[in-house]
Amino acid sequence: MEKIKLPGSHLSEKLSLNEALKKRISCRNFSPKSILMSQLSSILWAGQGVISQKYDQRRTAPSAGSTFPLELMVAVRKEGVDELEAGLYQYVSADHGLKRIGETDIARDISAACFNQEFLKHAAVTVLIASNNERTTRMYAERGERYVYMESGAVMQNIALESVELGLGTVIVGAFDDEAIAGLFGLETLRPLALMPVGYPKDKAFYV
Ligand SMILES: Cc1cc2nc3c(=O)[nH]c(=O)nc-3n(C[C@H](O)[C@H](O)[C@H](O)COP(=O)(O)O)c2cc1C
Repeated sequence: MEKIKLPGSHLSEKLSLNEALKKRISCRNFSPKSILMSQLSSILWAGQGVISQKYDQRRTAPSAGSTFPLELMVAVRKEGVDELEAGLYQYVSADHGLKRIGETDIARDISAACFNQEFLKHAAVTVLIASNNERTTRMYAERGERYVYMESGAVMQNIALESVELGLGTVIVGAFDDEAIAGLFGLETLRPLALMPVGYPKDKAFYV
């Protein structure tokens, strides 16, 4: 499986947290313009990046009992990211890298699996937040299910705020056919929770 090291350029700090919070808004109208590898890198780092080797590899989002049930996968549209082939990738937090797991642009299929939400065809990339609930229920029994969903909310808000910081748009997509999305992303033990298409907003004044 091809492994790709992501650039460690998650250091853009143009906005204060309060400014980013004030600008957060759902984007459903994407420009066809490609995004940079460094931007994709920052988006994935914001979602599940490792920020300390101490404390069980502490990540940008909290995790109940450090059980880390969440995985990020990313579908890259043809010409969606500079210097990255279209296809499917899994984010590997520990390496801050990508593992290539598919070679096809599935943007149109994702849109169809989301009950034809059109904007998913045009985003540069679509991030899938998927979970292995067992990692958490092993420690917390049934209550662990709830913890997984709480954790995914933190991850999604991180990605949304990082998108604002980078001048990119995103939206949480929860309306989709679970089986169809699992099939498209080749999930076996993971369960799809949400999708986040990311790209430049079509309207240049989106964040002004
Ligand atoms: C759990 C969840 C699921 C959502 N699913 C969708 C969706 O499938 N499609 C969509 O266009 N927006 C979806 N949204 C985005 C909401 O519609 C949006 O946040 C809401 O309209 C408020 O707008 P704002 O985010 O711009 O403040 C979802 C939001 C959440 C929190």
